[in-house]
Amino acid sequence: MEKYIIGNLKMNLLTQAERNHYLASFSSELKKSKFSNSRVVLCPPMVHMEKFAGVFRGSEVQVGVQNVYFEERGSFTGEVSPLMVKNFGGEYAIAGHSERRRYFGETNEVANEKIKIALKSGLRPVYCIGETEDERRKDLTFEVISRQIEEGLLGIANTQADRLIIAYEPIWAVGTDVVPESNEVMEVRILIRKILSELYSPELAERIPILYGGSVKAKSAAQVCVDPGMDGVLVGRESLIPMEFLKIANIIDKS
Ligand code: 13P
Repeated sequence: MEKYIIGNLKMNLLTQAERNHYLASFSSELKKSKFSNSRVVLCPPMVHMEKFAGVFRGSEVQVGVQNVYFEERGSFTGEVSPLMVKNFGGEYAIAGHSERRRYFGETNEVANEKIKIALKSGLRPVYCIGETEDERRKDLTFEVISRQIEEGLLGIANTQADRLIIAYEPIWAVGTDVVPESNEVMEVRILIRKILSELYSPELAERIPILYGGSVKAKSAAQVCVDPGMDGVLVGRESLIPMEFLKIANIIDKS
């Protein structure tokens, strides 16, 4: 299966100068890489999306956003619709990220609405799931993940499911520099695949990429992605350093 290396730039790149420097550095690093089996995707803050889409048009880098609203248009002050994202050059939308769940009360049901409208608008949703440290300690990982998938993907038909991307981000590994062991990631991958094959057909479930996210670095990419058989990564902090992000992409692409 094709691999996905997705950068979640979060709320960074505060000035035009900083953004332009990032783009110049990314473009120059990109010239040194040739990916044969991977999609490289950057999800910058919304204000930068159109610029990123313009800079990377025609290149091997695609662009997405970190969040969308679940309506197409109308009186929803401050929100951005997935159709706008699509029309301005975006191809992907993250949904259900643990920071959205934690700070903005995004539930599985809200993520589900966002995933449905993202699909309808022609975007590929990247649905984030994962357990907290407390849930892990109480041995609730499988239960939490099962619920997140079942509720988050409710009502998504077979015909649309092959555009989904799942990102397993254990919350205790996000922003912490602590990463799970390969076998822990693999166990969750197997569980996710099993749930997907119960919701859809096993053949279709096989085609849905399952990524790992949480403190991914070049030095941990094999442990959290290649060895446990994941289909790529969702990278936070290291995506702000083009050289490091592309190093991760190269490791995964060549694996
Ligand atoms: P870090 O890679 O900074 O831990 O962030 C992971 C993440 O939240 C990606 O969505």
